[in-house]
Amino acid sequence: MALDQAVAAAHAPVSKARYDCWTICLHWLTALLVVGLFAAAYVWNSLPPGTPLRKWLQAIHISFGLLFTVVFVIRLFWRSSRGRRLATEADAIGILSKGMHILLYALLTAQVLLGFLLRWAQGEPFLFFGLFSVPSLFGPDKALSHIFEWLHNYTAWIIIILAAGHAIAALTHHYLLRDDVLKRMLPFN
Ligand code: HEM
Ligand code: HEM
Repeated sequence: MALDQAVAAAHAPVSKARYDCWTICLHWLTALLVVGLFAAAYVWNSLPPGTPLRKWLQAIHISFGLLFTVVFVIRLFWRSSRGRRLATEADAIGILSKGMHILLYALLTAQVLLGFLLRWAQGEPFLFFGLFSVPSLFGPDKALSHIFEWLHNYTAWIIIILAAGHAIAALTHHYLLRDDVLKRMLPFN
């Protein structure tokens, strides 16, 4: 890159920058999986116990939960190494949005750990699309399983409510403030 281009890039307004394609791809994959995992659980909860569809949705939730774990670990790794982090404004909104992102990362980490603990405490098959089984770290425990189920369920609700607030904030930037906060996370402009 020519020197004048490098200087111009360094002085370009932060908001004009875009996230790299891996960050964009991992963000939307995370969002899709989180919403899908939540929806699957709420569909099976409306079905009578023991029905084949209910059992299938639970198995699918666990397999996609394992897939989500892999995507999320890659995302954390990418963000902390080569992934592009864009500077946020140092005002109250910037601090609030950074706080929201940190909270979402923390809750998603807790949700993955709770998912594993719940399955181990249930003592039921822990399969990845029928391909292999995740080894258990401890035996079945009914009391613990109720506690982890309760925590996993409420954490899911908090994630969905915060993610909805986060999405509304992004849409407000786009349609009311008319800046490029949303555009820089979109795969196209
Ligand atoms: C952000 C990701 C996730 C969300 C939003 C989510 C959401 C939920 C919800 C709402 C339930 C129903 C709880 C209830 O009925 O009380 C559930 C159940 C469950 N989840 Fe997740 N979950 C996620 C990730 C995971 C992961 C990563 C695993 C493990 C690999 C996992 C394993 C389970 C298990 C074992 C159950 C109980 C299934 C059964 O009743 O047989 N979840 N999840
Ligand atoms: C379950 C759904 C979602 C989750 C868990 C989620 C999570 C996150 C996280 C953790 C970040 C921080 C990225 C980083 O700096 O590493 C982020 C950024 C972002 N998200 Fe989401 N998100 C979700 C859905 C959405 C939706 C539906 C929209 C748009 C309508 C959206 C728009 C954005 C934008 C524009 C950014 C960049 C903000 C900035 O540069 O300051 N997200 N998201």
